[in-house]
Amino acid sequence: MEHDVLIIGSGAAGLTAALTLAEKGKVLVLAKGKLNSGSTAWAQGGIAAVLDAGDTFDNHVRDTMVAGAGLNDRETVEFVIEGAPRAIDRLCELGVPFNRDAGDLHLTREGGHSHRRIVHVNDATGWAVQAALLKAAEENPNITLLPHQSCIDLITGRHAEKYSGSGRVWGAYALDEASGEVVAHTAKATVLAAGGAGRVYQFSTAPRGATGDGIAMAWRAGARVSNMEMMQFHPTCLYNLEVKNFLITEAVRGEGGRLYHPETGHRFMEDYDKERMELAPRDVVARAIDDQIKRYGLDYVHLDISHQPPEFVKEHFPTIHEKLMGLGIDMTKGPIPVVPAQHYTCGGVVIDLNGRTDLPGLYAAGEVTESGLHGANRLASNSLLECFVFGEAAAKDILAHWDSFEAPPAIKPWDESRVTDSDEEVVIKQNWTEIRRMMWNYVGIVRTTKRLERAGNRIALLGEEIEDYYGHFRVTTDLIELRNLHQCADLIVQSALKRHESRGLHFILDYPEMDEAPIDTVLVP
Ligand code: FAD
Ligand code: SIN
Repeated sequence: MEHDVLIIGSGAAGLTAALTLAEKGKVLVLAKGKLNSGSTAWAQGGIAAVLDAGDTFDNHVRDTMVAGAGLNDRETVEFVIEGAPRAIDRLCELGVPFNRDAGDLHLTREGGHSHRRIVHVNDATGWAVQAALLKAAEENPNITLLPHQSCIDLITGRHAEKYSGSGRVWGAYALDEASGEVVAHTAKATVLAAGGAGRVYQFSTAPRGATGDGIAMAWRAGARVSNMEMMQFHPTCLYNLEVKNFLITEAVRGEGGRLYHPETGHRFMEDYDKERMELAPRDVVARAIDDQIKRYGLDYVHLDISHQPPEFVKEHFPTIHEKLMGLGIDMTKGPIPVVPAQHYTCGGVVIDLNGRTDLPGLYAAGEVTESGLHGANRLASNSLLECFVFGEAAAKDILAHWDSFEAPPAIKPWDESRVTDSDEEVVIKQNWTEIRRMMWNYVGIVRTTKRLERAGNRIALLGEEIEDYYGHFRVTTDLIELRNLHQCADLIVQSALKRHESRGLHFILDYPEMDEAPIDTVLVP
């Protein structure tokens, strides 16, 4: 199937690119599972933008770079932050019903932000954004949306009938989840918008499909990835034995929520960051909670906003309030038990300001990338913003070079002549579980060289098993995801072992100090 542009991913980054590209050509958008199954629909807090008269771009740039521990690329930070007001205007035009206060957009506050600057739709911003983008894409005759397609690998010159050997990307092979058929989707240009790799960890706020497929596919095709050790852990995921990955938005702390030791009632953030307390950047708060849990043998800590009037709490956090009430927790009357959980992949495929990767014909945007915006730790609510700004930047660059893109060559069909159906699905489940548990225990919030090396050895052994399995059996979505999870785990550990300092999200006991000069960890395939 041939289109002008192939987009892998139907979240904020992919659909923003699609809507811009559709001005000129035919766009195919592929998604694994449902069209709204990515992280975008799950976003709670909102989108950061300088809109208040008392705020400035400089403030937002400074907050972003303080949170990122200086590893950010300043040019990228300025590019994204200055693009925010336009991105919000565009979303308003698409009909996103942002909260308003006497006509003006209501701005909430989150950790690491020195001003109120988070535009939001109650506590379910992502759901509204995803719905508005999907509606616009569905109504656009130049956009074809194809859910339930699991991309396996990017198509490059080596897949051409007339082998070219070049790393030029011509689309992707994708498994149709219903028919089990693998189709080669070719295009003049490809935009990778496949989201993050959160599910590489046992506990994560990310949806089931966040298995790092985009990062792994780009790496296998020959693109550099960077700063994969910078895995963000959100401080406040609900602790509940039935519901494993429900986020309690940072805006709860932004609106006054406090963290307490559940037994002594001590407001422990004063021992870690007296000045910023609960509104310190995420890495600081997540490490503090992790320390309390380990030091006192706790299962969780308490997050309490019940000192605010009940109406205020219900009005600001209707989704969370309703969900918790269903679990027997009334946040207007008492505390919420919380633990940290993996939340965001700061590292990823290296791109420039036009969303270009190292590979001709391949662009990338959103959580799959390392654009230079987040550095060593993402500032809250900067991620959706990055999707809008880079989704549009990549599309604009493709439009600017439209006439220079050649039509794809004839591509070899997917070869299944040497594989059979798997007779041992248990291998996949076992390896999934093992990788995720090992990453949580050995490559988590606080690291040591010894534990990283252990993880590296185990990953090498698992790699042999997974590649052997992949070489012998027909692909399924589970197998595709396992292969990618494993690839990402390897990239994270390799990167973590290369950084001999503690910076932002990478905290390693063997190197507790931060080096003077911030240097990216860049892996070259
Ligand atoms: P996603 O929205 O994750 O979309 C990925 C797309 O790629 C999906 O369509 C998926 O199906 C597709 N895909 C993946 N693999 C394949 C494959 N192999 N083949 C085909 N398609 C594939 N950020 C903020 O800025 N503000 C917030 O308030 C906020 N809250 C969050 C709350 C939660 C619970 C979570 C998990 C994240 C939150 N984030 C927030 C982060 C933000 O939501 C994500 O970083 C952002 O939505 C990523 O968008 P994306 O377009 O890059 O990818
Ligand atoms: C949250 O609402 O706490 C998540 C915000 C984000 O991840 O940016």
